[in-house]
Amino acid sequence: MAIETAVITCHREQMDDALWQARFPEVQVLIDSATLQARVRELGEQIARDYESANPPLLVGVLKGSLVFLADLMRCMPIPVSYDFVAISSYGAETRSSGVVRLLKDLDTSIAGRHVLVVEDILDTGLTLSYLLELLRTRNPASLKVCTLLRKPARQKVAVPVDYCGFDIPDQFVVGYGLDYAERYRNLPFIGVLTGIEGDIK
Ligand code: IMP
Ligand code: MG
Repeated sequence: MAIETAVITCHREQMDDALWQARFPEVQVLIDSATLQARVRELGEQIARDYESANPPLLVGVLKGSLVFLADLMRCMPIPVSYDFVAISSYGAETRSSGVVRLLKDLDTSIAGRHVLVVEDILDTGLTLSYLLELLRTRNPASLKVCTLLRKPARQKVAVPVDYCGFDIPDQFVVGYGLDYAERYRNLPFIGVLTGIEGDIK
């Protein structure tokens, strides 16, 4: 591909929310993509300022939901960073989180003596993050902080210390920007509420 073509392709406008909404009418916009991008930028810049005099932090993304947020966030952080992923499942017979949490994929790197920032899509009951933080703490990082894009204060069961939070949202099931319902909707560029869904599903 010629370089000029690549430049033109990269600058192509992102499809706007209205066009996505027409294709996904069951999803109601809660946080539009412009608001989301502005807040992610603010968070990234704040985090970069907080870490600029420290050794490069390790961003730990929680798969799969945090992927989109992590990718945008770190590109708003003009400091050296590295990143790694964990995958965690909270499962049980019910649709609500059972409180039984299991590590499906561990970090590839050692975190001893490193500044670790856990990046999560949403803090709901807090069970997933409190399990993960307890596990990571046993590995003696230099520091351990949490950045979550969304938080549902009404649902929190376990206190989790959050250092950076994008938005507090009401107790509604949300999708988009990495968050899924049955593996769908992760690619929406905004956060939306899925209408017509009974109860509480993860
Ligand atoms: P917690 O352990 O209850 O805090 O649950 C956190 C995990 O549940 C998140 O990482 C998400 O994967 C999932 N989750 C919680 N609320 C929602 C939601 O509204 N939409 C999509 N996924 C959610
Ligand atoms: Mg999920």
